[in-house]
Amino acid sequence: MAVVDQALRSLTSTAQAARPTPTSTQADDISDVAARRISGALMRVNHVGEVCAQALYSAQALATRNPALRTQFEKAAREETDHLAWTQQRLRELGARPSLLNPLWYAGAFGIGLIAARAGDAISLGFVVETERQVEQHLESHLDRLPRDDAASRAIVARMKNDEAGHAASAEQAGATTLPAPVRWAMRAAGRIMTTTAHRF
Ligand SMILES: [Fe+2]
Ligand SMILES: [Fe+2]
Repeated sequence: MAVVDQALRSLTSTAQAARPTPTSTQADDISDVAARRISGALMRVNHVGEVCAQALYSAQALATRNPALRTQFEKAAREETDHLAWTQQRLRELGARPSLLNPLWYAGAFGIGLIAARAGDAISLGFVVETERQVEQHLESHLDRLPRDDAASRAIVARMKNDEAGHAASAEQAGATTLPAPVRWAMRAAGRIMTTTAHRF
């Protein structure tokens, strides 16, 4: 079943990127142990974000009855697969491990994606816009927090940030509705729980 296959691919280390990993012209010179640890923790958080993106888009593509929208979700999901593969690869290079709670994150995000999709296409798209905007802001904050020397992680995060902005823009063009403020706050709170937990576990 496609959904199960997608879940397994997100949770095992086999994500294949279609686009090459973004690189920087600056030499990757992150030899300081403490800096490597910071980078590892931040890239683990970003990897969890991409695991959740797989689950959300997979659930939303599954649940919509609109073939054009399904195609759009699948296209965004392919870019998210690149993000997943890049962050996975970077975690390995930094000698850091992915979150132990990934199956839990995946299941939670899949459930939320289904709820969003059941609420109808305009709300489902509104959910994408809000999620992608929050992720974009979060990645922006990581560009401040990542060690200066970690050019490789920074190049990946910068490209992901651009892609997420593109996902939000296409969802908006496709007819997204603005989610009510309490829903947006709840999403922000959920995001905060996820990022704080994934930083350590
Ligand atoms: Fe992403
Ligand atoms: Fe995205």
